[in-house]
Amino acid sequence: MTRSITILGSTGSIGLNTLDLLGRAEPGAFNVVGLSANKNVDLLAEQAIQFAAKHVAIADATLESQLTAKLSAYDVEVLAGPDGLVELARRSADITMAAIVGAAGLEPTLAAVAQGNTIALANKECLVCAGETFMDAVRRHGTTLLPVDSEHNAIFQVLDTERPEGIRKLILTASGGPFRETSMEALKQVSREDALAHPVWSMGSKISIDSATLMNKGLELIEAAWLFNRPSSEIDVVVHPQSIIHSMVEYVDGSVLSQMGSPDMRTPIAYALAWPSRMATPVEPLNFARIGQMTFFEPDLERFPALRLAREALEAGGEAACVLNAANEVAVEAFLQGRISFLDIARTCEQALDKLAGTAGFSRTPIDMQAVIGADQRARATANEHIVNL
Ligand SMILES: NC(=O)c1ccc[n+]([C@@H]2O[C@H](COP(=O)([O-])OP(=O)(O)OC[C@H]3O[C@@H](n4cnc5c(N)ncnc54)[C@H](OP(=O)(O)O)[C@@H]3O)[C@@H](O)[C@H]2O)c1
Repeated sequence: MTRSITILGSTGSIGLNTLDLLGRAEPGAFNVVGLSANKNVDLLAEQAIQFAAKHVAIADATLESQLTAKLSAYDVEVLAGPDGLVELARRSADITMAAIVGAAGLEPTLAAVAQGNTIALANKECLVCAGETFMDAVRRHGTTLLPVDSEHNAIFQVLDTERPEGIRKLILTASGGPFRETSMEALKQVSREDALAHPVWSMGSKISIDSATLMNKGLELIEAAWLFNRPSSEIDVVVHPQSIIHSMVEYVDGSVLSQMGSPDMRTPIAYALAWPSRMATPVEPLNFARIGQMTFFEPDLERFPALRLAREALEAGGEAACVLNAANEVAVEAFLQGRISFLDIARTCEQALDKLAGTAGFSRTPIDMQAVIGADQRARATANEHIVNL
């Protein structure tokens, strides 16, 4: 049976990997309903033509006329701006691949949740900033939520959801990023290019920087807490540089189940696209003899304070994770633009958490969308102010 799919963020790394798999799938297995981008009009138009998409949305509304002109000979509806993105997400599809980067993905993904589309969730920031609201919407609409982040996808594959009392711990693995062995002194000097050069994974720029600071693992910790309904104390992080084990579940009898595979996002994406079946991918099979060794280390919270901040934000509850996420988005952007140093990223986040905790105080009760938007805006303003004063 043909599955229809919309890809929110089709021009990014996850979007391209998803389209790569769709292009290789059996003819008629999938049909593309909608595609979206922020600014990349050329690639979005190309994708829409190649995959015969019915609807496209460009988040930057100033580019609407360019996109319309490129698609004038085709039967494609062109939507634009943040509202256009939400409109696209509302178009019925069997699967929505949520692959927009950052908090910008929240509203369109929530719109797809409300539509009842199965959500293949790559965008972790949705759950970080609005975990309670998001999971509540998933429950209310009876939406199927399939994690695409490789760690959460690994856990999803080995988690005994029927018998949660048998689960002792979730163990998230982390590659450790490009600076796993870099001294604190040397971290002061690292460049944008050094930070973008991830040793194992090929990803978009924001998540690459998050991997270098270990904020990515922190955001994943919060994501795991919401997805699998576990407290911070039951989620460990271990550094595993080879990135062969994508995460693990420890059971009360001492058994540990893991999912393994080559570090290639097409495996978790394919799992979500074909679930509950499996589909073939061109991902290189594991050759254990060639891998030889798998090693594991404790994460270093002194050199990588972002992971500590994320755990603190998760434990604080309320608005804290949303504040952390927004401050991090601002700081990563500033680092990519060469305005702040690598170590300033975590400092900016810590300062936003401290400042907002000190003045407004965190709401420790579950927060609704209005509170999420308010906390996000305050954190962005605080982080920008901090950066200007550096
Ligand atoms: N890449 C990975 O391997 C990986 C693994 C696990 C989880 N994830 C998660 O998946 C998400 C996407 O990551 P990615 O690496 O694919 O990111 P990416 O390569 O930067 O792509 C992001 C996509 O979102 C669009 N976009 C950016 N800003 C937007 C905005 N303000 N409004 C609407 N659309 C916007 C981009 O459009 P333009 O091309 O026009 O800029 C692009 O299509 C992130 O949440 C990330 O944490 C990624």
